[in-house]
Amino acid sequence: MPETEATPVQNAEIDTQEAEAVATKTAADKVADAVSTASVRRAIERSREIEEQIALDPSQFRMLTGARPTGNLHVGHYFGTLINWVGLQNRGVETWTLIADYQVITDRDGVGPLKERVYGLVTDYLACGIDPEKTTIFTHSAVPALNQLMIPFLSLVTESELNRNPTVKAELEASGGRALSGLLLTYPVHQATDILFCKANIVPVGQDQLPHIELTRQIASRFDRRYGRAEKDNPVFRRPDALLSEAPLILGTDGEKMAKSRGNTIEIGFTADETAQVLKKAKTDSDRVITYDPVNRPEVSNLLMLAALASGGDPETIAAEIGGGGGGKLKAVVTEAVNEALAPVRARRQELAADTTYIHEVLAAGNEKANEEANRTLGEVRQAMQMIY
Ligand code: TRP
Repeated sequence: MPETEATPVQNAEIDTQEAEAVATKTAADKVADAVSTASVRRAIERSREIEEQIALDPSQFRMLTGARPTGNLHVGHYFGTLINWVGLQNRGVETWTLIADYQVITDRDGVGPLKERVYGLVTDYLACGIDPEKTTIFTHSAVPALNQLMIPFLSLVTESELNRNPTVKAELEASGGRALSGLLLTYPVHQATDILFCKANIVPVGQDQLPHIELTRQIASRFDRRYGRAEKDNPVFRRPDALLSEAPLILGTDGEKMAKSRGNTIEIGFTADETAQVLKKAKTDSDRVITYDPVNRPEVSNLLMLAALASGGDPETIAAEIGGGGGGKLKAVVTEAVNEALAPVRARRQELAADTTYIHEVLAAGNEKANEEANRTLGEVRQAMQMIY
């Protein structure tokens, strides 16, 4: 969708027309699929352009990464996103890394041992190569001015937009009919505050998060139209782009989504033995000849992909090498590749975990820096809104 220049009110009218158009189609799902496929394709193209620009001049970019503190990081996070973030950080992209603690209270489920998880995540990040000299690690709850942006931003979105947000809808469906909290409904707006408070212009996310980035761009431009600028020539907010990664999604050892509750994850912090144990129980199939065939042999192919990511090889070649060795050989190959790739990360993690003072200091320093930035941005927002008294 081209950048909307409409005011929120005009936009609400457009939204109604869109909703009607969709309702008259017999295959509304197909429409939604087509729209999202097109926007995914655009986001991929744009991501490749940004990658090229980063190679030329990384200093033009500020990246905001975000993750919920819901548990320890696993190999899916590591090979799917972390390696990528660390690579960008090391290429000179200024990085802000949010631990989204206010996002885990969006539903009514218990949040678990939150403090432990937050510090655990800081430890995982540092072990994986996030460098606190280059990256600001911070949490929502410690940055009041970030959260205050929620009020003006909520004035810029309509209720129907929130109700139509695909992620909100999916969460609602997954909740099995339980009531939706007000925070869940508005969390995409809160996510916009994460990105806009620090004026990030790139946000590495998965495809499912694209609607949130689009909403963030709309909020940035609507703020400019509705409330104006603190400085005549510069809008308060930049419009961020999603950066889609090329890494494939790694599933759990049973071929389902990785989740601690399923016992199908390989955590970064596991020992080599724990890794071997989980992989020993991994699901394969009865065909002894190992081939890479994601459609017909999803579990075997997932393990091959994991081995490939861990060893820097490709899944077909690894499959050919295993040949008639069967599931047992495949598991041995994956175990060795993962343990070898993670050995240095795990060694660092152990050292870091023993130094809680340092972990606490890193987060405190990050929060302090995030507060400075958020206060500065909120100052500009209040200036633009004529609310400096
Ligand atoms: N919603 C993201 C997730 O579930 C986490 C997140 C919170 C985030 N704030 C963000 C991601 C800002 C990108 C930018 O994974």
